Amino acid sequence: MTSNPTWVLSRFPVGMPVPDDFTLEDRPTPVAKPGELLVRTLWLSVDPYMRARLSPAKNYAVGQQIGEMMMGGGVGEVITSDSPQFKPGDIVQADDFGWQPLTTVSAKTAVRLDPEAAPVQTSLGCLGMPGLSAYFSLLHVGRPKAGETVLISAASGALGQVAGQIARIKGFDAVAIAGSDAKLDWCRSIGYRAGINHRMAGDLTEAIAAACPSGVDVFLDNTAGPLHDAALLNLNTFGRIVVVGTVARADKFDQPDIGPRFLRRILVTRARIEGFLLDDFEAQYTEARRELTTWYRQGLLEAREDVAEGIEAAPHAFIRMLKGENFGKQLVRL
Ligand SMILES: NC(=O)c1ccc[n+]([C@@H]2O[C@H](COP(=O)([O-])OP(=O)(O)OC[C@H]3O[C@@H](n4cnc5c(N)ncnc54)[C@H](OP(=O)(O)O)[C@@H]3O)[C@@H](O)[C@H]2O)c1
Repeated sequence: MTSNPTWVLSRFPVGMPVPDDFTLEDRPTPVAKPGELLVRTLWLSVDPYMRARLSPAKNYAVGQQIGEMMMGGGVGEVITSDSPQFKPGDIVQADDFGWQPLTTVSAKTAVRLDPEAAPVQTSLGCLGMPGLSAYFSLLHVGRPKAGETVLISAASGALGQVAGQIARIKGFDAVAIAGSDAKLDWCRSIGYRAGINHRMAGDLTEAIAAACPSGVDVFLDNTAGPLHDAALLNLNTFGRIVVVGTVARADKFDQPDIGPRFLRRILVTRARIEGFLLDDFEAQYTEARRELTTWYRQGLLEAREDVAEGIEAAPHAFIRMLKGENFGKQLVRL
């Protein structure tokens, strides 16, 4: 029985999660049941959706219970397999890794990766869940037309950086919202025309108006909060707001979302506000992943990562991402 340091949820966070919400327990190496792979974790992904799972409140997915191992997407090397589909040494990605160095995943849901095709951790970023979310939320829900202005919040993050580059590839006018000037400089280097530093801008409505002189046709709302209201006030007739995420509410998770009510603006612009969940597009993942991989291999899609080191760093990496301290896709390397 080998020691396997494992992060468990010690209590539900109140407001912004803090390190004491998690405990590192010395647990035995998991034993793979029939149909499972024993995997050595190489990379863990920490993602905003995890905040919603650390709550007894009802959500679109089942939440984590107190005392349970923290779950999330990961990449690792197969150690044992009873499945003809996998052999020891294969590198796999799955959404149900635990925050632990040795883990078990179902052979049914694990995906074998080709390390020659792209760095394996891109399967957690630009070629994985965030990249696919960028692809479908922008192209299938926002549906910009050539020349239209697309405003994207959390623009340098895992999802936003891919959305901005897809916008550039497709010929849309992309404008970034991010939390630092360094992030905005990088956003411009990957194809955003202009940028707004939401922490320094002062009046957000005026800042968006200045950066988007022709108005906003599509707003990819990755954060919610005051940015949502400011974007709405700059929306063009028949504009589209895609509600992708609410990470700006990570510290107010259990409180009602109160803000100005600009309903008349929706009436006047005949705009559409639509929620987005990646799962709805599962039937089209293969096609989208193929296109994203082609862009990546052609050098059209750049991937910026922010890497924390070691299993001990997992809660810290998660919390810094929620606070906007990450610069690129937040990962943990083991
Ligand atoms: N619906 C779906 O299927 C789906 C799938 C994937 C992701 N998402 C959502 O997409 C969003 C982005 O996810 P991601 O994985 O790409 O994360 P990310 O952008 O890599 O990291 C989160 C970013 O949110 C920004 N942020 C945090 N607090 C903020 C605040 N108060 N105001 C404005 N911005 C704030 C920070 O960027 P700045 O410092 O630049 O502000 C931070 O870097 C999240 O809301 C996530 O839940 C949804």
